[in-house]
Amino acid sequence: MIKVLNIVGARPNFMKIAPIVREMGRRADVFDAKLVHTGQHYDEAMSGSFFNDLGIPVPDHYLEVGSASHAVQTAKIMIEFEKVVLEEKPDWVLVVGDVNSTIACALVSAKLGVKVAHVEAGLRSFDRDMPEEINRILTDAISDLLLTTSEDADAHLEREGIAPEKVRFVGTVMIDSLFHSLSRSQSSTVVSDLGLVEKEYAVLTMHRPSNVDDPSKLAGLLRAVSSVSERMPVVFPVHPRTKSNIDRFGLGSFASDRFRFIDPLGYIDFLRLYSSSAMVLTDSGGLQEETTALGIPCVTLRENTERPVTVELGTNVIAGTDPENIKTIAFRLLEDPSKVAGRVPPLWDGKAAERVVDAILGVDGRQ
Ligand code: UD1
Repeated sequence: MIKVLNIVGARPNFMKIAPIVREMGRRADVFDAKLVHTGQHYDEAMSGSFFNDLGIPVPDHYLEVGSASHAVQTAKIMIEFEKVVLEEKPDWVLVVGDVNSTIACALVSAKLGVKVAHVEAGLRSFDRDMPEEINRILTDAISDLLLTTSEDADAHLEREGIAPEKVRFVGTVMIDSLFHSLSRSQSSTVVSDLGLVEKEYAVLTMHRPSNVDDPSKLAGLLRAVSSVSERMPVVFPVHPRTKSNIDRFGLGSFASDRFRFIDPLGYIDFLRLYSSSAMVLTDSGGLQEETTALGIPCVTLRENTERPVTVELGTNVIAGTDPENIKTIAFRLLEDPSKVAGRVPPLWDGKAAERVVDAILGVDGRQ
């Protein structure tokens, strides 16, 4: 048996781990897979509801680390996770994405001589002001198996001196979850509950510290989207970090009948919401991929992306954070959505988790 600890911590991890846990469950004759939740995210809306929506089993270990500064949060995860590794003695630890839980658990494992598999390796924004960029670079440097979502990621890893035999291009597990849940999401009533009409509204998400922690930056972004909402209604599920800043900076008055601020949604309701929308405006990484997979125009409210394939092949446009530029691009796309190309990148086929699990078997020498 190959013993694997699969790690989740924050909201964008859940839809990545779900298909991997399912696939390892299908091969239970070979894999003894356990799930560890660090508790980086802990609210029902940011964590619990995703377990239900995605059919993820109850974690075998819950570390309860909660929110804190980067150093405290990362250190707490390491202290608690080291105990789990010593108790469970896994052959592999599998981490996904680029959150603090990813680097913390990878680092503990590497120091204890446990092999690390990193799913979604090699993405680079080349912006070290993003905490996620630091997490990506460091996790990749100490991983034994690097599973990539696009070929540009393989090239970054090669340039950083990572041996090519450690790298496997497998596609994106996030899109496995999307395809798995798409038909079920049709039963969600979120669109009509919000009084919206399919393909006649836009969706906004925003939570990057660089966008939401500075009052004038956040106000400028909200002003830009507020102008878009005069043309087409916008619905904005508000991340807790963004919500507390909107309250603190007194920006709640941007909300209106046409620019609806709502609580964060679960996976199925949110999938239904953006898959039926005319356009998404976001600073999320994952949503750039999800809109590309579904052919929905996406306006990215950042100066860069670690997912350039969504621009080259998909429906993504990097608008930056200048309010005028955002308005211009959003209006252009609303007038003519065909301005963004739309091709689903290679290996975004719903079978990435199978390839992840095959790769672990291959490297482990048991296949
Ligand atoms: C984290 C990830 C980011 C990811 C995002 C998705 C890192 C460095 N960042 O950022 O990559 O895109 O998750 O959400 O790992 N809070 C709650 N309830 C929760 C969790 C957080 O209210 O369940 C609040 C707390 O006030 C907390 C704040 O949100 O201080 C920010 O949470 P944190 O986990 O520090 O970072 P995120 O901004 O969510």
